[in-house]
Amino acid sequence: MPVRLGDTAPDFTAPTTQGEINFHEWLGDSWGVLFSHPKDFTPVCTTELGYVAKIKPEFDKRNVKVIGLSVDSVESHVQWEGDIGETQGTPVNFPMIGDPDRTVADLYDMIHPNASDTLTVRSVFVIGPDKKVKLTLTYPASTGRNFDEILRVIDSLQLTANYKVATPANWKDGDDVIIGGAVSDEDAKQLFPQGWTTVKPYLRVLPQPNK
Ligand code: BEZ
Repeated sequence: MPVRLGDTAPDFTAPTTQGEINFHEWLGDSWGVLFSHPKDFTPVCTTELGYVAKIKPEFDKRNVKVIGLSVDSVESHVQWEGDIGETQGTPVNFPMIGDPDRTVADLYDMIHPNASDTLTVRSVFVIGPDKKVKLTLTYPASTGRNFDEILRVIDSLQLTANYKVATPANWKDGDDVIIGGAVSDEDAKQLFPQGWTTVKPYLRVLPQPNK
């Protein structure tokens, strides 16, 4: 079964490079990013994990825990981490789930048989503190992901969780935002006393309210 937006993120207990974890307990009150890569000791994956390690302080700042997965063993991950640290400049500083029997991969529908019968695709799940799935992404093995984009989406998710706004195309933290469609002008006056610009009745723009 695919995991869809708004679903409760499936819970599991699994071995990782930082010891066994129960996923929901490990998340606690944090946001989470669970991402899979196809295979250990492969080039694109090496760059992806190195980059995530480098920008981990950005995830920490946003109260987001990051965890990786492939259908390789923890022992294999640990060996590969040496190469990642050596070649990418930052040691891997987040847990990686060993899933050789595909328990977690199957739970999250990370194996797409028309892409590969055996390898996980490049899936990303962003999970909120309520354990609900807020974002899903699926990339092919040949395309490394843009983890800056994942941080950008998390900024939008965290903003829109607290304010009745939406974020426009290519929005970045600090840019103007849009008043949510379900908010009447009357309610908007209470919510946004600083005012807004009406471009069209359905397109009302204002500065990011928490800046
Ligand atoms: C890679 O990470 O480079 C890769 C992994 C599996 C298939 C193709 C590329």
